[in-house]
Amino acid sequence: MKYDLTIIGSGPGGYVAAIRAGQLGLKTALIERYSTLGGTCLNVGCIPSKALLDSSEHYHNAAEKFALHGIQIKDLAVDMPQMIKRKNEVVDQTCQGVAFLMKKNKVDVYHGHGSFVDQHTIKITKDDGSSEQIETDKTIIATGSKPITPAAFNYDKKRVITSTEALNIDKVPKRMVVIGGGVIGLELGSVFARLGTEVEVVEYLDSIIPTMDKDCGKELMRALKKLGVKFHLSHKVVDVQATSRSVTVKVQKRDSEDTFELKADYCLVAIGRQAYTANLGLENIGVVTDDRGRVEVNSHLETNVPGIYAIGDVIQGAMLAHKAEEEGIFVVETIAGQQPHINYNLIPGVVYTWPEVAAVGQTEEQLKAAGIPYKSGKFPFKALGRARASTDTEGMVKVLAHADTDEILGVHMVGPRTADMIAEAVALMEFRASAEDAARMSHAHPTYTEAFKEAALAATADRALHI
Ligand code: FAD
Ligand code: NAI
Repeated sequence: MKYDLTIIGSGPGGYVAAIRAGQLGLKTALIERYSTLGGTCLNVGCIPSKALLDSSEHYHNAAEKFALHGIQIKDLAVDMPQMIKRKNEVVDQTCQGVAFLMKKNKVDVYHGHGSFVDQHTIKITKDDGSSEQIETDKTIIATGSKPITPAAFNYDKKRVITSTEALNIDKVPKRMVVIGGGVIGLELGSVFARLGTEVEVVEYLDSIIPTMDKDCGKELMRALKKLGVKFHLSHKVVDVQATSRSVTVKVQKRDSEDTFELKADYCLVAIGRQAYTANLGLENIGVVTDDRGRVEVNSHLETNVPGIYAIGDVIQGAMLAHKAEEEGIFVVETIAGQQPHINYNLIPGVVYTWPEVAAVGQTEEQLKAAGIPYKSGKFPFKALGRARASTDTEGMVKVLAHADTDEILGVHMVGPRTADMIAEAVALMEFRASAEDAARMSHAHPTYTEAFKEAALAATADRALHI
């Protein structure tokens, strides 16, 4: 077979690229080594983690909040196998949806491991060892990433686990140690803490979600401590030993020789992910990777080999599904002769804890480091009627605007439904709105979005109304 475009990897980068290629009339092949489509995001990432976050949030609300609302529940219990079953059903439906979309857009799907024979020939090796080859004019590498598991942590997939295994634990653990206070550690740590697990997070740096605005980390940590999560900031794990039933995690204070041990049922390793290019045959065509194993690309997302592109987690930048999607569309439209554009500064980041954390643009720390003069306006959710009505008063919205022009440079939110609220900030910033523009737009009352309007008012002229 001969294709205009072959895409290796069916995650949100690869399958969205395939849809766009189908729409633009390119004869397209999609190669996926696993039996289902959708990649990390649909199978063992975004979708299953959000399904468990929702289930555990329902339980937590029933246990902790319903009584306040005047609702009494007797014999409340967690049915973990059912929770996992529902999660699996959500995943199955979503993955089947992608298979349907491939058919709809006339994309040929090949299941097997793709590798480069030469610049225009891809070999597909199936699980049974058999293989076939296809010819292609252009190729997109969309092979994603896998968790980082240092040897000292003795990752065994049973007691020392990554997010992949954590999504299938079917009995509520008594204790769990989480290595890494980043997105995965805090989202999955929240799932288990809500279900009653004693969760302890060991984070190497001096704040959680360290790449986000410092205020977000502080607000979230306060909320998670209330949930019972314990934190060891500025600490690193130096050794993990597991038996068939438990783990012992040796923790060392940063800049000190002091160590102590934590015992738990599970140790969740969540210290980041690395680009996945194993057995891809990059060496056969001379595609260059960087010192972290990521495929190097230019501003058109093309590698050093003409006609070979790369997108998503396998290249530099945020490891986010929507970033991978945008890049998939960008490459296909470029191949089709269009002139697409991605504004990397306006890719929002979200942490689906409760309260949710959502941000776009520059942090206060980045603005300070770059010497950009800025104004800051903050508004706490506890001053909002909507938040009091739903008892979701934790968190705040912070708007950062240029001191001279008033252009919004960054928006950082911790609070109820901020994952959805951030879209307004993205839209305004795409159109280079000022804080005053945001402040003068009517926001429905009562809604959580009024916190954004109030923070914009505070930023533009220090004149928030309800505080
Ligand atoms: P992937 O989704 O990793 O897909 C790559 C695919 O390529 C895989 O299916 C793999 O099997 C296949 N593949 C690899 N090599 C080959 C080969 N040689 N031949 C054939 N197939 C191959 N991001 C968000 O934006 N929001 C979230 O809420 C979110 N939650 C997450 C939760 C968890 C627990 C995890 C682990 C990640 C989460 N992410 C989230 C990150 C998100 O999953 C990734 O950024 C996204 O999946 C990257 O998409 P991708 O297309 O680059 O690669
Ligand atoms: P991460 O990069 O978000 O967090 C890793 C954390 O571990 C960092 O805070 C880091 O300082 C810390 N760390 C690193 N080495 C350590 C060590 N030896 N000891 C203690 N702490 C250490 O990575 P994470 O959470 O594994 O997630 C991987 C990727 O998946 C992220 O880049 C994220 O973009 C993506 N993801 C996105 C989600 C979302 O958008 N909601 C949800 C889950 C994952």
